[in-house]
Amino acid sequence: QQAIVVAIDGPSGSGKSSVSRMVAQRLGLAFLDTGAMYRAATWWCLEQGVPLTDTEAVAAVVRELPLAVGVDPAGPTVHVGGTDVGEAIRTTAISSAVSAVATNLEVRAELGRLQREAIAAERVPQSFSHGRGIVAEGRDITTVIAPDADVRILLTASEEARLARRAKEVHGSADAEAVQATRDQVLRRDKDDSTVSTFHVAADGVVTVDSSDLDLEQTVQAVLDVVAQVT
Ligand code: C5P
Repeated sequence: QQAIVVAIDGPSGSGKSSVSRMVAQRLGLAFLDTGAMYRAATWWCLEQGVPLTDTEAVAAVVRELPLAVGVDPAGPTVHVGGTDVGEAIRTTAISSAVSAVATNLEVRAELGRLQREAIAAERVPQSFSHGRGIVAEGRDITTVIAPDADVRILLTASEEARLARRAKEVHGSADAEAVQATRDQVLRRDKDDSTVSTFHVAADGVVTVDSSDLDLEQTVQAVLDVVAQVT
C-alpha cells in the first residue's frame, strides 16, 4: 500500500491541531504538529537567554536545537535536549513570542528541513513508525513544505468561531468577557503570522474546509471525505 501525505494548514482556532490528530488516528497515519516545533524552538531560545530580536543569534541557536518529535497521533511528544516540553510550549508566554522566531527565515529553513525529513520518513513503506503515511499540519505545509502532498487542505473558520474556540480553550468559557480577553492575542498572532504565509487563502489545488458551523466530529468527517475522494 502506497504511503499517503495529508497536508493541512490553517490559522489558530481553526481546530487544525485536534482535527489533524484525529484524522491521523482514524486513518492509522503518523501526525506532525509543525507549530509545536516553532514553539519548541522559541522555548529553547528563551531558555538560552537569547533576545528574540537578535535574528543572527536566534538562527545560530536554532541550528543546534536538540529537538525530538514523536509522531504517534495517540500521544505526540516534543522533547528538547531530553526535556519533555509538551506542556511548557503551550503557555501564553510562548504563544506571544513564537511569531518572532517563526518569522526568522533561517529558523524556517532549518525547521522546514526537519519537517521534510519527518514527512519523508513516513513516506517510506515499512518505516520505523507507521509507514503508511502522515498528516502534517501548520501554516505552510500545503504550499512550501509538502506542495506535492497527496491531499492538501486549508482548514478555515470565521474570526468569530475562532475567537470563541480559543476563549473556551484558554478561559473555559466563550462569554463576551472571555472572547474579549482572547481577541487581542489571537488577532495579533494572526497579523504577525501573516508575514509567514497567506494561510487564509487556499493556494491552487488546495481544498478549503470551513469549520465555522461544524463541531469537531463534523470537521473530522469533512476532512476524511476530502481524503477519501483523493485516495
Ligand atoms: O499551530 P500553533 O498555533 O501551535 O503554531 C504556533 C506558531 O508557530 C504560529 O503562530 C506560527 O507563528 C508558527 N508556525 C509557522 N509555520 C508553521 C506552523 C506554525 O510559522 N508551519
